[in-house]
Amino acid sequence: MNPFKYGQIVTDVDFCPRRSLEKVLKEHIVSGQNVLIEGERRTGKSSLIINTAKEIKNYRILYIDINQIKTLNDLINRITSSLISMDRQTHFFEKLVKVISHLRPSVTIDSYTGNPSISFNANQVIHPKSLDQLLEFIYQEHSNKKNIVVFDEFQDILNLNNYESIVAILRSRIQFHSSMPYIFSGSVRKNMDKIFYDADSPFFKSAIKMEIGALEKEIFRDYIKDKFLSGKKIIDTGVINAIFLKTEENPGDVQELCNALWSITEYDTTINQIDIEDSMEVIFAREKEFYEHTISLLTNHQLRCLTSIAYLGGKSIQSGEFLEYSGIVHASSIKKAATRLVDLKILYNYKKEYRFNSPFFRSWLLYKKY
Ligand SMILES: Nc1ncnc2c1ncn2[C@@H]1O[C@H](COP(=O)(O)OP(=O)(O)O)[C@@H](O)[C@H]1O
Ligand SMILES: [Mg+2]
Repeated sequence: MNPFKYGQIVTDVDFCPRRSLEKVLKEHIVSGQNVLIEGERRTGKSSLIINTAKEIKNYRILYIDINQIKTLNDLINRITSSLISMDRQTHFFEKLVKVISHLRPSVTIDSYTGNPSISFNANQVIHPKSLDQLLEFIYQEHSNKKNIVVFDEFQDILNLNNYESIVAILRSRIQFHSSMPYIFSGSVRKNMDKIFYDADSPFFKSAIKMEIGALEKEIFRDYIKDKFLSGKKIIDTGVINAIFLKTEENPGDVQELCNALWSITEYDTTINQIDIEDSMEVIFAREKEFYEHTISLLTNHQLRCLTSIAYLGGKSIQSGEFLEYSGIVHASSIKKAATRLVDLKILYNYKKEYRFNSPFFRSWLLYKKY
């Protein structure tokens, strides 16, 4: 079986330890400190939170992923389903149903597993006060067994029409829940900063920030070597460094490339640099349709801006060299195209630089000589 996992939370043997981050996060949790976790996509934020929380005795984790929520109904739904998975005891479930009874939930029991689930009428208008009551319920339960409350992909709270009032409720409850740690994790830096650092945001300075980036190089290298060894595949440091270079050390991308590399190499072999090129083709084949579709949505300017960043890098997109290469006449048009590419989540801003969200997409543009 391929030992490299990507596109999902990794736990246990798949989780490469990040001792110093785990230690800091653990200390914040046990002292009831609220934490803001920021980092690009696929850097391992969710995995870090889950693995750290699992290690802390006498705590249980309420993990609420709010990725792509659109309405308050969605938010309440995500919270209740997380509560159900957090504590499967009948009396807990009964208490929960009581708290949300005014929302007229329909309760169903899976006939196969016996697990209950709750759903709401998607069209009913839910009052923000329901959120307040749920948070209060979670806090009351915290006095029985300690909870760690995690809101993952928290920037998507901004999708809600009335997000300001929702955020205000969260903030005011959180203030009173001083012994219960809340963790807010998110990838779209601009939006996370908007929530936490705008002076008029109610979250202003309410949580300690932790930045998540690449894994510790040496530890990750040993992890990769060990995984390959499980198939008697030998990989040396030089080849692993080449993988790091190709993927800009993004943990998720490293794992995806290693997964492809594993799939094209034999049992009992030594992996070399050429195998990396072949495994890139495996990734291109997997992603081709998506890349082509992405490109089909772009205007001519946007595509030229994108390919120019692929070739020249995204540091000085308004320089003479960039203008000349892209064939775009006005620097302002380049800026506009780049901004749109960020909105489309193809690029992201890192300090003053535009970077590709997926280094493989960039490689593909170069490979295809766009
Ligand atoms: N500690 C880790 N050890 C090994 N792989 C990791 C680790 N953290 C992240 N990854 C890789 O990155 C992928 C995305 O991890 P995830 O925790 O979902 O990131 P994020 O929440 O930042 O988007 C995983 O599927 C895995 O391939
Ligand atoms: Mg995540």
